[in-house]
Amino acid sequence: MAAKQQHNGQQTQQQGGKQASQEAQLRMGQRGRIIQSPDTVRRMPIALPDEVRLQNAQGLNQILADTIMLYNMYKKHHWQVSGHTFYQLHLLFDKHAAEQLELVDLIAERIQLLGGVAVGMPHDVAERTIIERPPAGVEEVPVMIDRLLEAHEQILRECRELADKADENHDQGTNDLLVSDVIRTNELQVWFVGEHVVDSPAVIANDGTGQNGTR
Ligand SMILES: [Fe+2]
Repeated sequence: MAAKQQHNGQQTQQQGGKQASQEAQLRMGQRGRIIQSPDTVRRMPIALPDEVRLQNAQGLNQILADTIMLYNMYKKHHWQVSGHTFYQLHLLFDKHAAEQLELVDLIAERIQLLGGVAVGMPHDVAERTIIERPPAGVEEVPVMIDRLLEAHEQILRECRELADKADENHDQGTNDLLVSDVIRTNELQVWFVGEHVVDSPAVIANDGTGQNGTR
């Protein structure tokens, strides 16, 4: 039987002869006010004006949302890919997903560092992203690759625009993150994925006359 008693001015609970103070109890069921709204910046002493930090945090949040979607698209395709290129694409898609996930963390932490609020939950990401929504069902490999290439290009477009702005408004850290990490990683991934939709003969060469090139 549990019994409450007052002990040294503190509420205690007696259970089976053992006592734990209220201070030791887990405080469950807590909700409170929002202490920072999305699309705002708080003070951060990094020698950049509020408007610059706000503008760049918002730009990064768009790139973050789209990068989270690209990460998830890579995972979807990692699981759903099929056919004779299954093994290599299964591995490649997972490698790219892991690299995108690293970018997600770098971008999100840059937003926080600027005083902003990084978009985090899937429903918030889904509202913000402009990457075309793929179907829940399984698509053919060339379509999977096309969707990935389009998503990469959209992110690269956003990155180039924001990198230029960040350079102009002296936010070198954001510029460096975009150029050194996000742009370079996405460009490299475009190359590796894009080579899989080149219609190159696998066994018999084409001699250019419509005949095969075997002698
Ligand atoms: Fe896996």
